[in-house]
Amino acid sequence: MAITKQQVVDALKQIIFFAKKDNIVDLNMVQDISIKGKEIKVTIVFEKLDDPAVGIIYNSAVKALKSELGDDITVDVKPVADDAPGPLSGVKNIVAVISGKGGVGKSTVAANLAVSLAKSGNKVGILDADVLGPSVPIMFGVEDGQPKVIEKKGKPVLLPLENYGIKILSIGFFVKPEQALMWRGSMANNAFNQLMTDSDWGELDFLVIDMPPGTGDIQLTLAQNYNIRGAVLVTTPQKVAAADVRRAAMMYRQEKLTIPLLGIIENMSYFTPDDMPDKKYFIFGQGASDQLANELNIKVLGRIPIDAKLSETGDKGMPLSLVDGSPVSKAFTEIAQKLKTEITKL
Ligand SMILES: Nc1ncnc2c1ncn2[C@@H]1O[C@H](COP(=O)(O)OP(=O)(O)O)[C@@H](O)[C@H]1O
Ligand SMILES: [Mg+2]
Repeated sequence: MAITKQQVVDALKQIIFFAKKDNIVDLNMVQDISIKGKEIKVTIVFEKLDDPAVGIIYNSAVKALKSELGDDITVDVKPVADDAPGPLSGVKNIVAVISGKGGVGKSTVAANLAVSLAKSGNKVGILDADVLGPSVPIMFGVEDGQPKVIEKKGKPVLLPLENYGIKILSIGFFVKPEQALMWRGSMANNAFNQLMTDSDWGELDFLVIDMPPGTGDIQLTLAQNYNIRGAVLVTTPQKVAAADVRRAAMMYRQEKLTIPLLGIIENMSYFTPDDMPDKKYFIFGQGASDQLANELNIKVLGRIPIDAKLSETGDKGMPLSLVDGSPVSKAFTEIAQKLKTEITKL
C-alpha cells in the first residue's frame, strides 16, 4: 500500500510543541509534504531556527514517521524559519465548498456559510474560484468593486474587498463573463493561485472557497499546494445530483490529495409554504443525500429549504443569513456549528 499524505499528517500529529501546548500539525507548522514511494519529504516551519525545540521536534518527526510507516522509509525533514510568513499563514481554516455540478446552490451555500461563521464571532473571508460562474461579488453586493493592489514587503498584493465584515475576492474581478470559456486550464489556475497567495488575507479563522463544480485543474492545485482543513459537499435531493457530487468527493479523497470531507449540505431540500410553517414538502425526493453520506461515512450537516428569499437576497447582495430568525438563517447557524465540531474531530 502506498503511503498517503494523511498517514504522514497523522504521524506528525503525535508531535507536541510543548512551549505552544499543541501538536505541530494543528500549529500549522507542517508544510510541503511530498511522498515518492518510500521517500517522504516534510518541511517544518519554526518561528526561529535557533529555538532548542527545533532539534527535538526534528528528531521526533523522523522517529514518528519511521515508527508509523516502517523503518525502510527514507525521511527528509527540513526545518525552516518562518521569517517571511506566507500570505495564508494567518488563515486558520481553509474550507472548500464543492459540488458535482453547477446550479445546485454551491455559491449560495458558501456565501451564507461565510455569513453564519462571521455571525458567531469568527473572522471570515470568502474566495470565489468558480471561473465559469463567479457569483460571490453579486451575492455580497461588491460586483462593481475593484480590489486595490498594495505593496507588502516589496511585493504587490491584492487587498480583498470587504462587506458585512467578510473579506471577499473573486476570480470574477479579473475575468469578463464573455471571456470565461477561454479561461479554462492554466490561466484560471494562475488566477486562483494569485487570489490565494498574492493577496493580503490577514488573520482569518475561516477562508471559505467557492470552488468550481466538478473535478478539474483548480481542484488539483488546491489539493496539492494548499493546506486545506476540509471540504463541504453541496448537493440537491435528486439521485443524479448525488451521483455527480460522489465523483467530485472521490477525487478529493484520492491518494496524495486527501482533503477531509467535512460533511454534506443538502440544498433545496424541501418547500414550506409561508402560511403552513409546519409543513415540509419534499419536492425533489428524499434519501439520496443520506445514502451518499452513509457511503462516504460523513454527516449531513444540514438541509436548506427552497426559499425564493434566498435567491432574491442573493441577487440583491445581502445573503439571507444576515437576517436573524429566518428558517434559512437558523439552518445555516446550525450548519456552521456542526462544521466547527467536525473540524475539531479531525
Ligand atoms: N435553497 C434555495 N432556494 C431557492 N433558490 C435557491 C436556493 N439555493 C440556490 N438558489 C438559487 O439557485 C440558483 C443557483 O444557485 P447558485 O448558488 O448560484 O448555484 P451554484 O453556485 O451551485 O451554481 C441561484 O439563482 C440561487 O439564488
Ligand atoms: Mg456558483
